[in-house]
Amino acid sequence: SEILEGLTGRTVIVGSGLAGLMTALTLAPEPTVIVTRALIGAETSSAWAQGGIAASMGKDDSAALHLADTLAAGDGLCDATVAARIVAEAPAAIAALERAGVEFDRNDAGELSLGLEAAHSLRRIVHSKGDGSGAAIVRVLAEAVARTPSITVLEGYQAQRLLLDDHRVAGLLCLTDKGSVVLRSSRIVLATGGIGGLFEATTNPVGNFGQGIALAARAGALLADMEFVQFHPTALDSCRRPLALVSEAVRGEGALLVNESGERFMAEVEGAELAPRDVVARAISAEIARGGRVFLDARDALGNRFATRFPIIEALCREAGVDPASDPIPVRPAVHYHMGGVATDENGRSSVPGLWVVGEAASTGLHGANRLASNSLLEAAVMGMRAAGDLAGADAGAARLPHRLPEMVAPDPMPVRPIVSRHLGVLRNAGAIQGAIAALLPLYESDGPASDPALVALLIAVFASLRTESRGAHARTDFPLKLQYAQRRVMNLSDALDIA
Ligand code: SIN
Repeated sequence: SEILEGLTGRTVIVGSGLAGLMTALTLAPEPTVIVTRALIGAETSSAWAQGGIAASMGKDDSAALHLADTLAAGDGLCDATVAARIVAEAPAAIAALERAGVEFDRNDAGELSLGLEAAHSLRRIVHSKGDGSGAAIVRVLAEAVARTPSITVLEGYQAQRLLLDDHRVAGLLCLTDKGSVVLRSSRIVLATGGIGGLFEATTNPVGNFGQGIALAARAGALLADMEFVQFHPTALDSCRRPLALVSEAVRGEGALLVNESGERFMAEVEGAELAPRDVVARAISAEIARGGRVFLDARDALGNRFATRFPIIEALCREAGVDPASDPIPVRPAVHYHMGGVATDENGRSSVPGLWVVGEAASTGLHGANRLASNSLLEAAVMGMRAAGDLAGADAGAARLPHRLPEMVAPDPMPVRPIVSRHLGVLRNAGAIQGAIAALLPLYESDGPASDPALVALLIAVFASLRTESRGAHARTDFPLKLQYAQRRVMNLSDALDIA
């Protein structure tokens, strides 16, 4: 492997979604390297986010109300202290993004125009370019990175292994199309995003299978709440892969869910179409399991206004042959977000010295068992800023690279997808979870291309086997009730393998 000596000692940030970009920009002018497997900002869930950023900026809103909604959606499993801190910093994150050049949508009076999404008690979603929020934010921040001389961007670099020196971070081994390279650094930030690529039906970039979690787990990091995988209720049901998202904001504008007979099957449920995501996803899955299809009907609520309020979704629908002004939109649940991840403190520090984890790859405790809509970009922005603040004062001492570097193969989640999709979906039970563990173990142990994806899936399965209750996004048909006391679970890979 070639060692990129010229970049030695810089903070290395893996991933170029919102969390990674915010970390690098906040750290500037301190020298950093962003390592990203595609072009900067491309292939990131952040760039595909439609809804926006949840922030208590409305007249009748407050951080306390935002916190109450976050804790309610999290179904008893949030870390209330961390959640309070992150939601309180939402207005500062919006201000920082505006300073970086992001233009949030405003009404004629110049006030922020706020969207409504499920389980928010009032309009709170700050958005940009209608439903193109994520793309607009990532584009502006990527431009800011390009103007910042202290940030070096390495595109086409896939992070493969963390290198350790006496249990602390010493470097990063990456795969490129020209071979493997090593970055020597004692401060690494993983901002690698989610795990949707482990499943057949996802709204995430298909290459996002939890690589950062695999790296951290192999380095001995503690993982938290890995079983909690959020299904977005309304992905556009088409043959496109990954599935396109039909933002919850469409339901926020009054669109209704109907089955094939035109019945509003959510009408009697508390919160109706805007009940928490796990509730809506299970109801839609039940309709589909009965052999029917489900549609989101925006004809009365939006009609011809659809194209101006949701231009991206309109284009995605048209690509699938659907005109949302005149046709109901076919929808189905798809994996959208991972609440679990590498356990971190409120500054993004993991249990491995020298390793920070921010954004979806981390589990800070903000989301609990079910993430509240648009709290994901919020967490990415706030935690990028917080981690940068923490890194600024952290030890950057030289660490020694190990003498022998591990062998590497490019990861391939394909063999894992049918197993995970079949056994770890919206509804789970002991037999299915054990089936997943039995099928995943040999793939993990093979050390072949499926080993890292299988490792992440195995962690989800082991955590799922231990949660003998139904809470938030984790629904077990054999344990339908919620235990009286909610408990977060934290363990490392070797504990999980003992259990498997
Ligand atoms: C959406 O727009 O429905 C997605 C927002 C989110 O995942 O928070």
